[in-house]
Amino acid sequence: MEIELAYRPTPRQRSFHASTADEVLYGGAAGGGKSTAICWDAFMRCLRWPQTHAYLFRRTYPELEMTLVRTMQRIVPAELGKYNAGAHEMRFVNGSVAHFCHLSNEGEGLLKYQGAEIHWLYFDELTHFTKPMYDYLRTRLRAERRLGIVPCVRAASNPGGPGHAWVKARFVDATGAGARVCEIPVRSEVLGRVQTRRVEYIPATARDNPHLTRDYVIELEQKPRALREALLLGKWDAFDGQAFPEFTDDASHHADGLYTHVIDPFPIPLHWPRTVSFDHGYTRPYSFGVWAVDEEGRAYRYKELYGCVPGEANTGVQQTPSEIASRLCDLLEEERREGLRVTGVADPAIWDRSRGVSVEEQIRQVYDGVIFRKGDNTRLPGKMQLHERLKFGEDGRPMLYVFSCCRDFIRTLPSLVYDARRPEDIDTAGEDHIYDETRYFLMSRPIAPRPASPARSRPGPLDD
Ligand SMILES: Nc1ncnc2c1ncn2[C@@H]1O[C@H](COP(=O)(O)OP(=O)(O)OP(=O)(O)O)[C@@H](O)[C@H]1O
Ligand SMILES: [Mg+2]
Repeated sequence: MEIELAYRPTPRQRSFHASTADEVLYGGAAGGGKSTAICWDAFMRCLRWPQTHAYLFRRTYPELEMTLVRTMQRIVPAELGKYNAGAHEMRFVNGSVAHFCHLSNEGEGLLKYQGAEIHWLYFDELTHFTKPMYDYLRTRLRAERRLGIVPCVRAASNPGGPGHAWVKARFVDATGAGARVCEIPVRSEVLGRVQTRRVEYIPATARDNPHLTRDYVIELEQKPRALREALLLGKWDAFDGQAFPEFTDDASHHADGLYTHVIDPFPIPLHWPRTVSFDHGYTRPYSFGVWAVDEEGRAYRYKELYGCVPGEANTGVQQTPSEIASRLCDLLEEERREGLRVTGVADPAIWDRSRGVSVEEQIRQVYDGVIFRKGDNTRLPGKMQLHERLKFGEDGRPMLYVFSCCRDFIRTLPSLVYDARRPEDIDTAGEDHIYDETRYFLMSRPIAPRPASPARSRPGPLDD
């Protein structure tokens, strides 16, 4: 039987398929042809080695269906493989099988693969996975001698996302950003000794892929700077020093709220308590965030008012406290109409009387619909509260969501970087007004720490 396979890999895809390393990350820019390469690689390995099993992972089921399953169905001719939608697997004529998998959590999600013998392990968008997930699935890599194969891991990813730090450390930093194949020691519990594994990083940029549409590139060019550099140029450093790298705006999940902090607006139930948080500076503009809290204590920033000219954090047009008060009054018009009570929490400096009548008093004289309480301005606990709330729970949901209309929150949070002189805190020279009022709000409703998220720690490449 003569079947012609219509695949002309790009040079980077070719390197990906040719690599003999134990673990390979094809990573960097969006649209480099990574998902396509994953599918072809799995298909070709399954075809070449009969009776072998490839496992292809994406973090969520809809993503899996939309990318890997769809691509595999497109590239595998009916004579060579058949997709079984119920079992989520592609069975090839030579007895090999490609299993399509998603992983919602580290606990039960992983247990499903306890008995699996994985020959070819694939991850698409590796930074969506935690290191424990990766490590556990890697331990399922094994093959009977008769198969004559060396099982391996092949992954693809853009920078960013909750697992950015560990993926960057393991693949990008350890290999000098792809300059060399690197050997890393891995402890084997079974053999009781340390083995080495060869790790390779193949960088991708959007420009490597001649099949990419102009529209896609133009869309990438519109993103905020760090994201643009990451997605267009494949720069992993674009997020370095970023204080909240876990903040995720995944437009494909705005509707279901899974593994994203930004969601589509929805009508908020009237019984959810509302709070407005306020940051004010004498020489700088101001910010209001309006929050609702659901029955589980999850916070939703559903609207905001940012009195700051974008990109000119410290030079925006000044407004007097009475002007600010009338804008606050406008902001809360709907709540007033509904007869809802809105509590307030604000920068403690607004009670300062050293320059005459305090800002709080001046605001209250114009609009007294919100009585503000002094916000807790202890910086590090406030920062920890934000990290805590951004963490994704086992169900893929964080404790803080932002409506997609809150554009200034979405724009400024990823731009916050660490202070070089005080490395545990934010650099206050940045555009941090929104962050500050968010802290006041979070400290008014602190949540208890949940189990540490491994994706947030920054392990070294040898940390196995
Ligand atoms: N070798 C190839 N031949 C023809 N078309 C290709 C090839 N590689 C990729 N493409 C096409 O280029 C487009 C982008 O590819 P793909 O989705 O694999 O990129 P990606 O790096 O996974 O992108 P993203 O970062 O958005 O996930 C797709 O339309 C795909 O079909
Ligand atoms: Mg892809």
